[in-house]
Amino acid sequence: MRFFLDTANVAEIREAYSWGIVDGVTTNPTLVAREGRPFREVVEEICSIVPGPVSAECVTLEADSLIAEARELAGWAPNVVVKVPLIPEGMRAVKVLSQEGIRTNVTLAFQAAQGLIAAKAGATYVSPFVGRLDDRGHDGMEVVEDIVRIIGNYGFDTQVIVASIRGPSHVIRGALCGAHVATMPFATMKQLFQHPLTDLGIASFLADWEKLKGKLGRA
Ligand code: E4P
Repeated sequence: MRFFLDTANVAEIREAYSWGIVDGVTTNPTLVAREGRPFREVVEEICSIVPGPVSAECVTLEADSLIAEARELAGWAPNVVVKVPLIPEGMRAVKVLSQEGIRTNVTLAFQAAQGLIAAKAGATYVSPFVGRLDDRGHDGMEVVEDIVRIIGNYGFDTQVIVASIRGPSHVIRGALCGAHVATMPFATMKQLFQHPLTDLGIASFLADWEKLKGKLGRA
């Protein structure tokens, strides 16, 4: 499973990338606006830090304007992936973009049928938003499981990104069902490392070593 960081904050991206487990980045207009910096500047900086796919989102809703926007975004760096919303005009755009070799991340998927549509349109990635479904009392991961299964049944090339992740259990359930990618906030990526028994184990090993090192003849 590949890990993407779901943020536009370059300090977080630099730190997490140094851990050696970040394969790409996803952004959205909300995340970019939070940084208070020009969109292009942020995307180009992220692309220079992480060589893997970096998703940048289109903000128009008609196929022709989506295509024009996507071509522009894709010209900013070779690793830009263009995010397109899961609407009929978006799928028209994805069809054209995939024929041009521009990689797409079809975003805002909330049901399995939408995943199937994105795959049929030729999307590189489709992003079911699990946290937003959970927030409304659904089990968002069931949608991911269904899309992964459907894509496998028909051998589509589209990769499933578990998106809108709220914690480690979304990542693990995604990995168990074979989702290709999990995109997560910086805080969730840090949580993946954590267990109190790891901290306790380190503390007791170091304390024992301190007590014994004089007797063992080592400084
Ligand atoms: C994914 O590409 C989106 O940017 C993101 O996962 C949305 O998550 P949210 O529901 O926490 O805003």
